[in-house]
Amino acid sequence: MKYIFGNWKMYLNFEESVNLANFLFTEKLDDSGIELAVFPTALVMKDINNILKSTSIKTGAQDAGHPSKGAYTGMISAEMYKEIGCEYALAGHSERRHLFGETNKDVRAKVESYLDAGLKPVICIGETKKDRDSDKTRYRLAKQIMRAFEGLSFDEGQVLVAYEPVWAIGTGNACLPADATDRIDFIKSEIAKYSQNFVPVLYGGSVDEDNVLSYFSLGSIDGALIGSASTKISSFGNIIKSVLK
Ligand code: 13P
Repeated sequence: MKYIFGNWKMYLNFEESVNLANFLFTEKLDDSGIELAVFPTALVMKDINNILKSTSIKTGAQDAGHPSKGAYTGMISAEMYKEIGCEYALAGHSERRHLFGETNKDVRAKVESYLDAGLKPVICIGETKKDRDSDKTRYRLAKQIMRAFEGLSFDEGQVLVAYEPVWAIGTGNACLPADATDRIDFIKSEIAKYSQNFVPVLYGGSVDEDNVLSYFSLGSIDGALIGSASTKISSFGNIIKSVLK
């Protein structure tokens, strides 16, 4: 099974999000061999779920708070996303870690709350440019994996990981497919220290319609988590169609 996940971040307003979901619906861009999911803004989630409900295309939250209920102004819980039909939720996206100060401890709490709510966490990990330049990539990845997985109880198929080098996100400077494969092999060997379950690992960071197939042709990479190229009808459509071919 290969995965194409589109993280729409805060790029699209209500109308643009609905238009893109309608495009996915009318083009019938779903296929049993590919797991396709989109991560719209919370505001439009219910509408997107309605548009896509007769397809195999899933939705996910870009983030969810880890308390399930209570006096948490501004937060939306994993249970709330589950209630309106989401399948996945991102945990620890680099923008959450770096712009909003999320720590490995916060990420772990989110992962547990997503699992409790019945959502599948997509745990985002990746090294910064500083890590890379100081030869700390493996150290950083191993630490993020340890904090997320040590002692975590989950069934096979419930947890995914996205390898997103911070320096490759939104820069047009994608990680070379061979390097991404090397990191993803390392990530899988680290996860195996904590779980015997197969955990799919996606690559994310400047994936577009020109380079997507170079990632999908490599065995270790189980899919792509795509940001800006997933927010335009033409590029997202071309990406999905080229992988489905
Ligand atoms: P870009 O594809 O825009 O680089 O973003 C990647 C990403 O952060 C997906 O979560």
